[in-house]
Amino acid sequence: MSYPKDVFSRMFAGGAVRSDQDLLYPKDEDVDLQEIDDTLQTNIFNVMLSRRSQRKFENKQVEDSKIEMILAAADTAPTAGGFQGFEIYHVKNSEIKLKLVDASNKQPYVNAPVVLVFCMNPERVRMNFPLHILKKFSLQDATLAAAYAQLAAHALGLSSIWIGMIDEEKVMAALRTKYTPSSILCLGYPHKILQPKPKRSLIGLIHEV
Ligand SMILES: Cc1cc2nc3c(=O)[nH]c(=O)nc-3n(C[C@H](O)[C@H](O)[C@H](O)COP(=O)(O)O)c2cc1C
Repeated sequence: MSYPKDVFSRMFAGGAVRSDQDLLYPKDEDVDLQEIDDTLQTNIFNVMLSRRSQRKFENKQVEDSKIEMILAAADTAPTAGGFQGFEIYHVKNSEIKLKLVDASNKQPYVNAPVVLVFCMNPERVRMNFPLHILKKFSLQDATLAAAYAQLAAHALGLSSIWIGMIDEEKVMAALRTKYTPSSILCLGYPHKILQPKPKRSLIGLIHEV
Protein backbone atom coordinates (compact mmCIF):
# COMPACT_ATOMS: atom_id res chain seq x y z
CA MET A 1 0.00 0.00 0.00
CA SER A 2 1.26 3.48 -0.71
CA TYR A 3 1.12 6.29 1.83
CA PRO A 4 -2.14 8.21 2.26
CA LYS A 5 -1.43 11.39 0.34
CA ASP A 6 -4.78 12.94 1.28
CA VAL A 7 -4.11 12.55 4.99
CA PHE A 8 -0.51 13.73 4.83
CA SER A 9 -1.34 16.70 2.67
CA ARG A 10 -3.44 18.09 5.50
CA MET A 11 -0.36 18.04 7.72
CA PHE A 12 1.91 19.98 5.41
CA ALA A 13 2.43 23.68 5.83
CA GLY A 14 3.22 24.15 2.18
CA GLY A 15 -0.12 22.73 1.02
CA ALA A 16 -0.98 19.49 -0.66
CA VAL A 17 1.51 16.72 -1.14
CA ARG A 18 1.87 16.64 -4.89
CA SER A 19 4.13 13.73 -5.58
CA ASP A 20 6.35 11.11 -4.01
CA GLN A 21 9.12 13.69 -4.10
CA ASP A 22 7.27 15.83 -1.55
CA LEU A 23 7.52 13.20 1.15
CA LEU A 24 10.66 12.29 3.01
CA TYR A 25 9.83 9.01 4.63
CA PRO A 26 6.56 7.13 4.33
CA LYS A 27 7.29 5.87 0.86
CA ASP A 28 6.52 2.19 1.12
CA GLU A 29 5.29 1.59 4.62
CA ASP A 30 1.87 0.31 5.59
CA VAL A 31 0.15 3.26 7.21
CA ASP A 32 -2.86 2.95 9.49
CA LEU A 33 -5.15 5.56 7.94
CA GLN A 34 -7.60 5.39 10.82
CA GLU A 35 -4.87 6.02 13.38
CA ILE A 36 -3.58 9.02 11.49
CA ASP A 37 -7.06 10.37 10.96
CA ASP A 38 -7.77 9.96 14.69
CA THR A 39 -4.56 11.83 15.42
CA LEU A 40 -5.57 14.73 13.24
CA GLN A 41 -8.76 14.97 15.34
CA THR A 42 -6.79 15.06 18.59
CA ASN A 43 -7.73 17.85 20.93
CA ILE A 44 -4.65 20.06 21.36
CA PHE A 45 -5.47 20.77 25.00
CA ASN A 46 -5.50 17.06 25.84
CA VAL A 47 -2.16 16.68 24.11
CA MET A 48 -0.64 19.57 26.06
CA LEU A 49 -2.06 18.48 29.39
CA SER A 50 -0.96 14.87 29.16
CA ARG A 51 2.60 15.35 27.86
CA ARG A 52 5.39 14.31 30.19
CA SER A 53 9.13 14.10 29.60
CA GLN A 54 10.37 10.56 29.17
CA ARG A 55 13.93 9.27 29.41
CA LYS A 56 13.29 5.55 28.93
CA PHE A 57 12.24 4.42 25.51
CA GLU A 58 11.15 1.02 24.25
CA ASN A 59 13.55 -0.62 21.86
CA LYS A 60 10.96 -0.24 19.12
CA GLN A 61 11.31 1.49 15.82
CA VAL A 62 9.17 4.56 15.22
CA GLU A 63 7.20 4.36 11.98
CA ASP A 64 8.49 6.58 9.18
CA SER A 65 4.99 7.95 8.68
CA LYS A 66 4.98 9.28 12.24
CA ILE A 67 8.40 10.84 11.81
CA GLU A 68 7.13 12.49 8.64
CA MET A 69 4.18 13.98 10.52
CA ILE A 70 6.39 15.22 13.36
CA LEU A 71 8.71 16.96 10.90
CA ALA A 72 5.73 18.40 9.05
CA ALA A 73 4.41 19.73 12.36
CA ALA A 74 7.74 21.44 13.05
CA ASP A 75 7.47 23.01 9.62
CA THR A 76 4.15 24.65 10.60
CA ALA A 77 5.63 26.67 13.48
CA PRO A 78 5.57 30.46 13.28
CA THR A 79 8.94 32.01 12.48
CA ALA A 80 10.34 35.52 12.46
CA GLY A 81 9.26 37.19 9.24
CA GLY A 82 8.20 33.76 7.98
CA PHE A 83 11.83 33.11 7.01
CA GLN A 84 12.11 29.79 8.85
CA GLY A 85 15.53 30.49 10.31
CA PHE A 86 16.19 26.98 11.48
CA GLU A 87 17.42 23.60 10.29
CA ILE A 88 16.57 20.12 11.53
CA TYR A 89 19.02 17.23 11.56
CA HIS A 90 17.38 13.81 11.73
CA VAL A 91 20.18 11.69 13.16
CA LYS A 92 19.97 8.09 12.00
CA ASN A 93 23.62 7.14 12.25
CA SER A 94 24.33 5.30 15.52
CA GLU A 95 27.90 6.63 15.77
CA ILE A 96 26.65 10.19 15.53
CA LYS A 97 24.03 9.42 18.19
CA LEU A 98 26.81 8.31 20.53
CA LYS A 99 28.73 11.49 19.80
CA LEU A 100 25.60 13.44 20.73
CA VAL A 101 25.41 11.55 24.04
CA ASP A 102 28.93 12.77 24.72
CA ALA A 103 28.03 16.28 23.56
CA SER A 104 25.11 16.43 25.98
CA ASN A 105 27.01 15.87 29.20
CA LYS A 106 26.85 12.09 28.64
CA GLN A 107 23.08 11.86 29.03
CA PRO A 108 22.57 8.27 27.84
CA TYR A 109 18.95 8.64 26.71
CA VAL A 110 20.12 10.92 23.89
CA ASN A 111 20.81 7.63 22.13
CA ALA A 112 17.08 7.36 21.44
CA PRO A 113 15.10 5.71 18.64
CA VAL A 114 14.53 9.10 16.98
CA VAL A 115 16.94 11.98 17.46
CA LEU A 116 16.23 15.41 16.01
CA VAL A 117 18.67 18.26 16.39
CA PHE A 118 17.22 21.74 15.95
CA CYS A 119 19.72 24.34 14.78
CA MET A 120 19.67 28.08 14.26
CA ASN A 121 20.13 29.48 10.76
CA PRO A 122 20.15 33.27 11.08
CA GLU A 123 21.25 33.60 7.43
CA ARG A 124 17.74 32.64 6.39
CA VAL A 125 16.22 35.51 8.36
CA ARG A 126 16.53 38.19 5.70
CA MET A 127 15.42 41.16 7.73
CA ASN A 128 17.16 44.47 8.10
CA PHE A 129 18.15 44.11 11.75
CA PRO A 130 21.49 43.75 13.56
CA LEU A 131 23.00 40.26 13.61
CA HIS A 132 22.30 39.75 17.31
CA ILE A 133 18.59 40.25 16.64
CA LEU A 134 18.66 37.81 13.71
CA LYS A 135 20.40 35.26 15.94
CA LYS A 136 17.76 35.75 18.60
CA PHE A 137 15.03 35.27 16.00
CA SER A 138 16.62 32.06 14.70
CA LEU A 139 16.95 30.74 18.26
CA GLN A 140 13.27 31.37 18.78
CA ASP A 141 12.42 29.83 15.38
CA ALA A 142 14.36 26.66 16.18
CA THR A 143 12.90 26.45 19.68
CA LEU A 144 9.32 26.84 18.50
CA ALA A 145 9.82 24.24 15.79
CA ALA A 146 11.14 21.80 18.38
CA ALA A 147 8.18 22.51 20.65
CA TYR A 148 5.72 21.87 17.81
CA ALA A 149 7.54 18.63 17.01
CA GLN A 150 7.42 17.60 20.67
CA LEU A 151 3.66 18.11 20.89
CA ALA A 152 3.06 16.36 17.57
CA ALA A 153 5.12 13.39 18.75
CA HIS A 154 3.02 13.15 21.89
CA ALA A 155 -0.19 13.34 19.87
CA LEU A 156 1.10 10.34 17.90
CA GLY A 157 1.59 8.23 21.03
CA LEU A 158 5.31 8.87 21.36
CA SER A 159 7.21 10.35 24.27
CA SER A 160 10.13 12.72 24.27
CA ILE A 161 12.91 14.36 26.16
CA TRP A 162 14.11 17.85 25.31
CA ILE A 163 17.86 18.19 25.66
CA GLY A 164 19.14 21.69 26.25
CA MET A 165 22.32 20.76 28.13
CA ILE A 166 24.54 20.54 25.08
CA ASP A 167 28.07 21.48 24.15
CA GLU A 168 27.33 23.39 20.97
CA GLU A 169 30.78 22.90 19.49
CA LYS A 170 30.68 19.15 20.04
CA VAL A 171 27.21 18.86 18.50
CA MET A 172 28.34 20.88 15.48
CA ALA A 173 31.39 18.65 15.10
CA ALA A 174 29.26 15.50 15.37
CA LEU A 175 26.84 16.75 12.71
CA ARG A 176 29.57 18.39 10.64
CA THR A 177 27.46 21.51 10.42
CA LYS A 178 28.08 25.22 10.58
CA TYR A 179 24.70 25.77 12.26
CA THR A 180 24.57 26.29 16.00
CA PRO A 181 22.23 23.81 17.72
CA SER A 182 19.54 25.04 20.09
CA SER A 183 18.16 21.74 21.36
CA ILE A 184 18.00 18.03 20.74
CA LEU A 185 14.63 16.32 20.78
CA CYS A 186 14.78 12.60 21.58
CA LEU A 187 11.72 10.53 20.77
CA GLY A 188 10.47 7.02 21.08
CA TYR A 189 7.76 4.79 22.42
CA PRO A 190 7.60 5.24 26.20
CA HIS A 191 8.85 2.49 28.46
CA LYS A 192 6.04 3.38 30.83
CA ILE A 193 3.34 6.04 30.60
CA LEU A 194 4.16 8.71 33.16
CA GLN A 195 1.74 11.14 34.73
CA PRO A 196 2.29 14.78 33.82
CA LYS A 197 4.24 16.81 36.34
CA PRO A 198 2.32 19.34 38.40
CA LYS A 199 2.80 22.85 37.10
CA ARG A 200 2.62 26.27 38.70
CA SER A 201 -0.76 27.65 39.57
CA LEU A 202 -1.79 30.45 37.26
CA ILE A 203 -2.07 32.62 40.35
CA GLY A 204 1.56 33.53 40.84
CA LEU A 205 2.55 32.73 37.28
CA ILE A 206 0.45 35.47 35.72
CA HIS A 207 1.27 39.06 36.50
CA GLU A 208 -1.47 41.39 35.52
CA VAL A 209 -0.12 44.86 34.96
C1 LIG B 1 15.18 24.42 27.72
C2 LIG B 1 15.09 23.02 28.27
C3 LIG B 1 16.24 22.31 28.49
C4 LIG B 1 16.17 21.00 28.95
N1 LIG B 1 17.31 20.26 29.05
C5 LIG B 1 17.24 18.99 29.48
C6 LIG B 1 18.40 18.18 29.51
O1 LIG B 1 19.49 18.57 29.09
N2 LIG B 1 18.29 16.92 29.99
C7 LIG B 1 17.09 16.42 30.43
O2 LIG B 1 17.07 15.27 30.87
N3 LIG B 1 15.96 17.14 30.39
C8 LIG B 1 16.00 18.41 29.91
N4 LIG B 1 14.85 19.14 29.79
C9 LIG B 1 13.56 18.54 30.17
C10 LIG B 1 13.06 19.11 31.49
O3 LIG B 1 13.81 18.55 32.55
C11 LIG B 1 11.57 18.81 31.66
O4 LIG B 1 10.85 19.40 30.60
C12 LIG B 1 11.07 19.34 32.99
O5 LIG B 1 11.59 18.59 34.05
C13 LIG B 1 9.57 19.37 33.10
O6 LIG B 1 9.03 18.08 32.93
P1 LIG B 1 7.92 17.80 31.85
O7 LIG B 1 8.54 18.02 30.49
O8 LIG B 1 7.52 16.37 32.07
O9 LIG B 1 6.79 18.75 32.07
C14 LIG B 1 14.90 20.42 29.28
C15 LIG B 1 13.75 21.16 29.02
C16 LIG B 1 13.83 22.42 28.49
C17 LIG B 1 12.55 23.16 28.15
